Amino acid sequence: MAGMGTRFLPATKANPKEMLPVVDKPLIQYAAEEAVEAGIDVLVFVTGRNKRSIPDHFDKAYELEKELEERGKEKMLEVVRNILPAGVTCVYIRQAEALGLGHAVGCARPVVGDEPFAVILADDLIDGAGQGALKQMVEVYEQHGCSVLGVEEVPPSETQKYGVVTPEPLSERLWNVKGIVEKPAPEVAPSNMAVVGRYILTPRIFDLLETTQRGAGGEIQLTDAISDLLAEQQVLAHRFNGTRYDCGSKLGYLQATVEYALKHPDLKDDFREYLLGTVCSRGI
Ligand code: G1P
Repeated sequence: MAGMGTRFLPATKANPKEMLPVVDKPLIQYAAEEAVEAGIDVLVFVTGRNKRSIPDHFDKAYELEKELEERGKEKMLEVVRNILPAGVTCVYIRQAEALGLGHAVGCARPVVGDEPFAVILADDLIDGAGQGALKQMVEVYEQHGCSVLGVEEVPPSETQKYGVVTPEPLSERLWNVKGIVEKPAPEVAPSNMAVVGRYILTPRIFDLLETTQRGAGGEIQLTDAISDLLAEQQVLAHRFNGTRYDCGSKLGYLQATVEYALKHPDLKDDFREYLLGTVCSRGI
C-alpha cells in the first residue's frame, strides 16, 4: 500500500487511497475481511508514507468507544469494536521506498517466512458471488498445492494496465499459466486474461524477488518474479466468481459505490428510489 494514489489527488494527498470509503467502509477493510473469510489470521500490511491512518483504523479506539458508550450508540459501538474478529493479528511493515509491487511483497518475507501466502491489492475490490475471491482461490490452492493467480478477461485494448498471462485451459475457470508479462501493449499481449490483484504464492517467490531487476515502469515487478517461478513450478490462473471494481480509477470507484449502496441494508431502498426517481428522470 505504498503507492501514491495520484489518480485520486487531492483526496489522497494526506490519506492513502486504501482508506477511501466505498459507502461506509474503507477499501482496506474490505480486503482484510476477504482475507479473514479465506481463513487467514495474520494480516501483513506493507505501507509507506502517509499511511498512519491504516494501523489506526484497525487499532482499538478507546476514546471513540467511550463516547459511543456514553451516548448509548450501541449499533455504532458494535461496528467500531468489530472491525476485525478476535484472533486476527495485524503486522505493519513500512516500505521505506516505493520500488514497486515486487519489492513490497519482498518486504513481507521476514513475517511470512517459508510458507505459502496470499497477496491482496486493496484497490481491486471484488464482490465475490457466494464467497470471496480469495476463499475460492484458497480452495484451488488446497487442491493443487501451487501458486494461484486471480484473473479475469479484460477488453483487449486495456492489457497495458495489467499483468497478462498466456493461459492453457484446464477446466471452466482454471488455466495453467505458460507465461506472464507486465503491462503489455495490446499488439503484443499474449491474451486478454489479466491478473487482478489476488495472488496465492509459494515462498520460493521471495528468493526470486531478491534478484528481480526493475521492469515495466522502472519498478520491481511481482509479475517478473512470477515469470521466473514458471520455470520451476506450476502456476495456475483462476477466474473467480464475482465482480471486480477497479477502485484505483475514478470510474471503477464510482461504480463500486453505486453497486454497494444498492446492496447496503440501511441505504438500498432510499438510494434506489433516488437513482430511479431523481437521477433517471433527469434523462441522463
Ligand atoms: C498491479 C500489478 C499488475 C496487476 C494489477 C492488478 O499493477 O503489477 O500485474 O495486473 O496490479 O490491479 P498496478 O495496478 O499496481 O499498476
